[in-house]
Amino acid sequence: MTPHNNPLSISSGYLLNNGILIPRLGYGTYKTGSPEECAAAVSEAIATGYRLIDCAASYGNEKSVGEALRASGLPRCDLFVCSKVANTERGYDSTLRAFERTLDDLGLTYLDLYLIHWPVTPAQSPDWRNINDKTWQALERLMSEGAVRSIGVSNFTLPYLEPLLLKARRLPVVNQLEYNPGTTQPETVGFCEARNIRIEAWSPLGRQRIFDNETLRRIAEAHGRTVAQVCLRWEMQNGVIPIPKSSNPDRIRQNADIFDFELTAAEMRTIDLLPPFGGSGLAPETITF
Ligand code: A2P
Repeated sequence: MTPHNNPLSISSGYLLNNGILIPRLGYGTYKTGSPEECAAAVSEAIATGYRLIDCAASYGNEKSVGEALRASGLPRCDLFVCSKVANTERGYDSTLRAFERTLDDLGLTYLDLYLIHWPVTPAQSPDWRNINDKTWQALERLMSEGAVRSIGVSNFTLPYLEPLLLKARRLPVVNQLEYNPGTTQPETVGFCEARNIRIEAWSPLGRQRIFDNETLRRIAEAHGRTVAQVCLRWEMQNGVIPIPKSSNPDRIRQNADIFDFELTAAEMRTIDLLPPFGGSGLAPETITF
């Protein structure tokens, strides 16, 4: 996968492996607060120009997100809406039911992207492979019925992605992973890139722990930017789609203002090589919900 060094704008995109265009930058809705705060933040993001809106059934805010999508007045085809199957809903029939609820809550007639939020692990169920396969088959069915335009996975590290691909009839278009300076999951990312599975970055700002890093601060200063902007730009120049969350209007705009500067190859390499320091500690094996 070729990283794009000169993205054009917030609404320009990458072609996914199914020929569908996805924006280069998204807006994340995890922990966007009360229903009113969530709707206000999503409205602000859309007004700023974000077109990829990322949500999940487990965030419990799909109704508020849907409200903001409608209030935008934008034609549906101008938006790229993604949601995810909750861990409690994995399996064939339950995923199909969960999808109907998600669509209802969002008030939409289709999704642009639907993801399995987390894989089932052997510790959660001896039948983990089969449940992951069945969940994927439900997504494939939704795809073939035209209810979703593309399907993918999230947090599928190699022990889960490889078995899934053995049975899958369709390739996931994306794998949404934790990805931030110091947390780059190189094995999974390399495997996905070799198969043209695009990486989306959750927690692209490393839960704010990276803001004090001296190396990032120095690079940010050299460009007259914030550390957050440097992180997002680094992700984009690596061909990864960051989906930053912010509830603050100034920061929502700041995070979108990353299209008119470029990190040098040396700066990219320096950030690529930063040691782990901003990770959440979450992995399929540590998830208990
Ligand atoms: P807030 O909503 O108050 O802006 P991550 O996506 O890595 O998990 O980080 C999300 C956290 O980072 C949120 O708590 C958010 O808080 C904060 N955040 C988002 N954008 C910025 C920014 N540009 N500068 C500082 N903090 C930010």
